[in-house]
Amino acid sequence: MKLIRTENYTEMSLEAGKIIVDKIRTNPSLTLGLATGSSPKGVYDYLIQDHEENETTYKQVKSVNLDEYIGLSTEDPNSYHYFMNQTLFKHLDINDNQTHIPNGAASDLEQECLRYEQLIKELGGIDLQLLGIGQNGHIGFNEPGTPFTSTTHIVTLAQNTREANSRFFNSLEEVPTHAITMGIASILKSKEILLLVSGERKAEALYKFVNGEISEEFPASALKYHSNVTVIADRDALKYI
Ligand code: F6R
Repeated sequence: MKLIRTENYTEMSLEAGKIIVDKIRTNPSLTLGLATGSSPKGVYDYLIQDHEENETTYKQVKSVNLDEYIGLSTEDPNSYHYFMNQTLFKHLDINDNQTHIPNGAASDLEQECLRYEQLIKELGGIDLQLLGIGQNGHIGFNEPGTPFTSTTHIVTLAQNTREANSRFFNSLEEVPTHAITMGIASILKSKEILLLVSGERKAEALYKFVNGEISEEFPASALKYHSNVTVIADRDALKYI
């Protein structure tokens, strides 16, 4: 595992953004694994700015997102579909039909999980997966206790995850209770992984990730089984390291 230490969120985003742009320029038909939330937002801003200034093209790039809430339509402002369109896709020249996010409004959710896992396979796997980490060590929406062998599946969100994400909703009650997420095994199949960790509220999780044992009780620890993981963290997140 490689650790890149940065001063702050902006520098973390810049480091990650540069790595991604470099990969796209080397392999213009890359399959990118994407995340939502606060951690990757600055990276997406960097990619947009680079696209505008340096004309990096996404015409052949494919993307697969980690997860989506169950029960929100794709137009719901709190859905991850909406987040990805607003914060990234609509600003790039990426083809709509080459961006993929689990459908949390599917009528048959079990079938949707199988479809999504098959889709990743058909795309030839994920070349570069971007990840954030939850305070409880979750990656994607794989909460503590998720088997490392899991593929795309339906999850019940942990109470502290719903609380953490309630900042995007009007109230905690509005935060969905379930989600579809790529599994730990799906994530580990990615050829390369970039984990972004920013802010003091993630310091304890980062400490556990670096120094703790590998355990299904701390999902991110599975990344230690992967041979190409880069952690990009800022000073506040590195408080105990
Ligand atoms: C989002 C995702 C989650 C987040 C994690 C951290 O697609 O899969 O695992 O990466 O909850 O969220 P932020 O970045 O908002 O602190």
